Amino acid sequence: MSEAESRQSYIPPDGPAAAPSPAALAPRARGTSEGTKGRPRPAPSPGAAAGTRLPRRAALWLLGGAVAAAASVASPARANPGPRRAGRVDELLSRLTLAEKISLLHGAADPKSLGQAGYVPGVPRLGIPELRLADGPAGVRAKRTATALPAPVMLAATFDPALARAYGEVIGHEGRALGQDVLLSPMVNLIRTPYAGRNFETFSEDPLLSADLVAEEIRGIQAEGLIATVKHLALNNQEKDRTTIDVRVDEQTLHETELRGFEAAVAAGAGAVMAAYNKVDGVYCAENPKLLTELLRHRWGFDGWVMSDWGAVHSTGPSLAAGLDMEMPSGARFGAALEKAVRDGHVPEASVDRAVRRILSVRDRFGLLEAVPRPERDAAAGARVALRVATAGATLLRNEGRTLPLTGPAARSLAVIGPTATLPFVSGGGSAHVIPDAAARPLDAIRDRAGAGATVTYALGEDLYGRPMPATEPPAELENRTVAAGATWRYEGTFTVPEADRWTFLIHYSGTRPTVTVDSTELFPVRPGVYDFFPGGLESHAPDGLLVRRTTVALTAGAHRLTVTASGGSLGQRFRLRAISAADRAEDIAEAARAARAAHSVVLFAYEDATEGQDRTSLALPGTQEALIDAVTAANPRTTVVLNTSSCVTMPWLERSAAVLQMYYPGQEGAAATTAVLFGDADPGGRLTQTFPAAEDRHPMAGDPLRYPGRDGIQQYSERIHVGHRWYDAEGVEPLFPFGYGLSYTTFGYEDLAVERAADGGLDVTFTVRNTGGRPGTEVAQVYLGPSPHLAALGVDQPRQLLAGYRRLELTAGERRRVTVPVAARTLSSWDTARHGWVLGTGRRTVRVAASSRDPRLVTEVTVQPR
Ligand code: BGC
Repeated sequence: MSEAESRQSYIPPDGPAAAPSPAALAPRARGTSEGTKGRPRPAPSPGAAAGTRLPRRAALWLLGGAVAAAASVASPARANPGPRRAGRVDELLSRLTLAEKISLLHGAADPKSLGQAGYVPGVPRLGIPELRLADGPAGVRAKRTATALPAPVMLAATFDPALARAYGEVIGHEGRALGQDVLLSPMVNLIRTPYAGRNFETFSEDPLLSADLVAEEIRGIQAEGLIATVKHLALNNQEKDRTTIDVRVDEQTLHETELRGFEAAVAAGAGAVMAAYNKVDGVYCAENPKLLTELLRHRWGFDGWVMSDWGAVHSTGPSLAAGLDMEMPSGARFGAALEKAVRDGHVPEASVDRAVRRILSVRDRFGLLEAVPRPERDAAAGARVALRVATAGATLLRNEGRTLPLTGPAARSLAVIGPTATLPFVSGGGSAHVIPDAAARPLDAIRDRAGAGATVTYALGEDLYGRPMPATEPPAELENRTVAAGATWRYEGTFTVPEADRWTFLIHYSGTRPTVTVDSTELFPVRPGVYDFFPGGLESHAPDGLLVRRTTVALTAGAHRLTVTASGGSLGQRFRLRAISAADRAEDIAEAARAARAAHSVVLFAYEDATEGQDRTSLALPGTQEALIDAVTAANPRTTVVLNTSSCVTMPWLERSAAVLQMYYPGQEGAAATTAVLFGDADPGGRLTQTFPAAEDRHPMAGDPLRYPGRDGIQQYSERIHVGHRWYDAEGVEPLFPFGYGLSYTTFGYEDLAVERAADGGLDVTFTVRNTGGRPGTEVAQVYLGPSPHLAALGVDQPRQLLAGYRRLELTAGERRRVTVPVAARTLSSWDTARHGWVLGTGRRTVRVAASSRDPRLVTEVTVQPR
């Protein structure tokens, strides 16, 4: 199918959008005291109203001509002044042979790998350098250590696009310093289901917030000369069946939810886009012309290149024709098969040239068609940003009776509990895992901060890595066994269990996974051809780096047969076999309760270990942690639970805890940030970017397998535009914690709301925030917009309220600040499927200024009129 032929269906043709002219506002809204009339419109805060500053080519169809004309042009080239030579791409194209061109369109093995995910060889004959592509979202993932930044979901919790930019700059700089050219990040897929394994790698359930943050992060990455790859286009919102699931979504939902972040990324000048594994409306994303050509190229004017996700290409000609430019990480479809297809006349060479031109043009824009000097890594600068983000994103969910900050006796007598107090949970699993230079243990940071006069005790609470096996008959060394290369070690014997019990066995190993059987059950089977091991960030590696697999079996009292077969392979191997009985678990909990009872206050670290490649199967804290929290809070109600989780968890124990601090995966500076917030050296400035459900059956995905995880390979986004907090509003479901929620150590008052029409057709929402408490603190003021009666009359579905803007504010005690949050005309519009375009939401609309989606502080109404 040609590009022209394929321009139909859910993505409409280019041209003036169907939206009427932007809003005119009726008389000034109620509640106004200090307006912004006569004052210049504030410079576009990166924090407010995403999508307002789109490049002209994108804005034309998004906003309608009048608004687009006013939009500035963001040139990605400006951010990356590389050594360019006019006509270099044309010249190269004319000199490259077909085989050379094709070699630029797919990945290959890297002869000098730096540990990165992808590699494309250069063409030395013409001076084209090789290209290295590294993950990822929370820092550069390569062989060498790098700054492990907090997970993107924690960055998002700051509601601070300026921090997103700083975050991007760190990764951009380090990527260049660590020998990389392309970053496989950011990920901007929306948090749609609380179960999704990669929720920590992305930003938010809210389209506007995600769009703001992704745009600024990309600007930061690319300002340092590293090419950013926004991923995964599109609708890769879960890991379950991610390589096969066929997502069915209506046009309005697509445009108003998932696509907004990608659109903002393109507008910010992203050099590359990664096509997702899944299908959309029956077609794999990597061969989907509606996504890769109609949307990206024709609607958004994308001029970068599209690469596949790793192993996501299913065809040669159709993928290339659909708009895929690069296959990663190998050339299974775009290598020899493509060359043959061209030589046989099945694929026009012009299609190859088009893809090569797109890739070379971006490389040229970044100066990456020459060998350029690389900067030195600045580890100290990276650490500073990591600390700022982890502190700013710390989200306080509960604080009964001012449990926090820890002061006086609470700071002098503490029990610290939980495995992640001594094994810092730095980074999530999968391709986003980053190996830091170092990461302090929270327990040590707490002890340092508490000082010499304080008593800080520690109890493990839950054993993640197991105890040495009980004695076997005949005796065997199972704790520290090495097997030489080429050798095989076999053991057969028995061990005895005193009483019927559930035992968890763990194998820690390097090299080939040993085969272990208990009685006749194989404990850690390797299934040939099945990649079933997606390392998480915590449990899948022992502290010394060995891989860990675990399994739980019920054992009767008495002797059990054990066999172990370990093979040294070509490199030799090391392993240890370990176990934890239910009795061990009970003892760990009892010991924690004793420690809790003996201290004035408790800080309990709880974890949840999510990873790419698999979704969570429960929202509960895993393992015995709920029982641990029950026992500890019963022993000492002054218990603060610190959560190192990927996103939401259910909290049946909430009422029994005194405080809950959400720290996500906080990166290498997590210990310092956590301690600073616990002791009040910093205010917890984070707010939730994802609604926390009250129970496993009270969230948007509950009870409808077609919605999640899909049925018979198909999935329907039947919640439509009501993603995240919008669903809770639409269904009247009470969440555990709403979107935008988070406590400070101080209090804030809101006053004097004024709403005016802005020059670009949007709104200026102006109000005053005052720190009404006795200490400095951070507030995230949020603006929500009610539905338009005009759109309702047209039958356009609308959220009860949508996030229209926000502003993060740091205020000293008693300080008041007047702020204006701009709301773009685009944010006032909905996608009208009948007209295939954005339609301005005119008529009387509610404007709420709120401290969370469920905590409105100021409310007014405005009339949005067509111009
Ligand atoms: C992931 C991508 C990642 C790539 C390379 C894939 O499995 O989905 O996000 O960039 O691997 O590591």
